Amino acid sequence: MAAKILVVDDDPNVQRLLQYTLKQEGYDVVTASDGAEGFRLWGSAAPDLILLDVMLPKLDGYQVATKIRTEEGTTGHVPIIMLTAEREVEQKVRGLRAGADDYLIKPFHPAELMARIKSLLARFAPKDSLLARPPLGRVHSFYGAKGGVGTTTIAINAAIALHRELGRKVCLIDGNLQFGDHRVFLDLGLDRKSIVDIVTAPSIDQDLVRQVLVKHDSGIDLVLAPPSPETAELVTPEHLPLILDQLRTLYDYILVDIDKRLDDINLGIIEASETVFVVMTADLSCLKNVRLVLETITHLGYEQEKVQLVLNRSNAFTGINVKSAEGALKRTIEHQVINEYRGAISALNSGAPFMFTKADSVLGGSLLHFARAVDKRAMSGAAARAIAR
Ligand SMILES: Nc1ncnc2c1ncn2[C@@H]1O[C@H](COP(=O)(O)OP(=O)(O)OP(=O)(O)O)[C@@H](O)[C@H]1O
Ligand SMILES: [Mg+2]
Repeated sequence: MAAKILVVDDDPNVQRLLQYTLKQEGYDVVTASDGAEGFRLWGSAAPDLILLDVMLPKLDGYQVATKIRTEEGTTGHVPIIMLTAEREVEQKVRGLRAGADDYLIKPFHPAELMARIKSLLARFAPKDSLLARPPLGRVHSFYGAKGGVGTTTIAINAAIALHRELGRKVCLIDGNLQFGDHRVFLDLGLDRKSIVDIVTAPSIDQDLVRQVLVKHDSGIDLVLAPPSPETAELVTPEHLPLILDQLRTLYDYILVDIDKRLDDINLGIIEASETVFVVMTADLSCLKNVRLVLETITHLGYEQEKVQLVLNRSNAFTGINVKSAEGALKRTIEHQVINEYRGAISALNSGAPFMFTKADSVLGGSLLHFARAVDKRAMSGAAARAIAR
């Protein structure tokens, strides 16, 4: 879940600037314009960190910090960064004595503020039972009913939403072995490790898999596709199930973005998946392919519940609405993601997924809605039955 930061500053310009900068970095922000409101919001909004100006109406920053520390006693410790215009050592000491964990002298550079915030959040991160609990170990694959329907966009942004907004540990695999796009979507070079480094090792164990994982700034871990189409041949149908077994013990969700072929490799991934999210748009060729996929799933002996349909660009005009698509398929379309071409394409072209940099956009909201549904389903009995099958 995105960390929540309380900004207490009576200067509307500073408030706006901080709000903008913090939101850009993916934080949730609440603001207060005086000390009393700041103290009240600490109680009601439960922020993860407070940026506290010293010179404030009603209660000054020192008084707010002192009151918070008295009130929270030994039960918790919200990190406080004091923002001060004063240079005197004496004032800094006073701030720290009042209970601030760090201070910054105005004007400061946003990069310095971010570095201090990150380090304090890491230092005071709750080491509670949630972090200690065993991973959920759910594998989901994402399959496009045809090329270019937005499968990769949805897989990547759902992974980020599950991690940043819902606090899950997530690994994303680029299973499009020949022409994987994740390096482009996530602005990563060909020098990074890839699945080839796993499959060319003498044996696949957890240490090896951990070493090959690539960490993305959003906090999700990645298994990248081979760097070239030729090296994709090194991956055989036996490899993916072995890799997934290792990852299940480390992550809540392992999302696999697979390509369109129903070959042995993809069938192995589908077999290992609890759910196959079939991404489609509302057009005839997609409807035809979805029908074929549903038939194939039945022929393979899986329950139809294993497949969930995701209608991407759901509100784009195609002449086929959701109801008629459902009528043609004779089944419900479980999920919808809205159409927002600019948001999707500019995120792709800048290498910064919208769920990371613009989570509060309409498209971000739509993806979060999807991620919540995925997470909720994992908690439900239906998913447990599907695993047992
Ligand atoms: N919800 C959306 N609204 C508008 N445009 C979208 C949406 N989702 C994806 N797109 C756009 O559709 C194009 C294809 O997206 P993407 O690469 O994710 O699809 P894909 O199914 O993975 O394609 P491929 O078959 O090449 O793997 C991109 O330009 C992307 O920006
Ligand atoms: Mg793709």
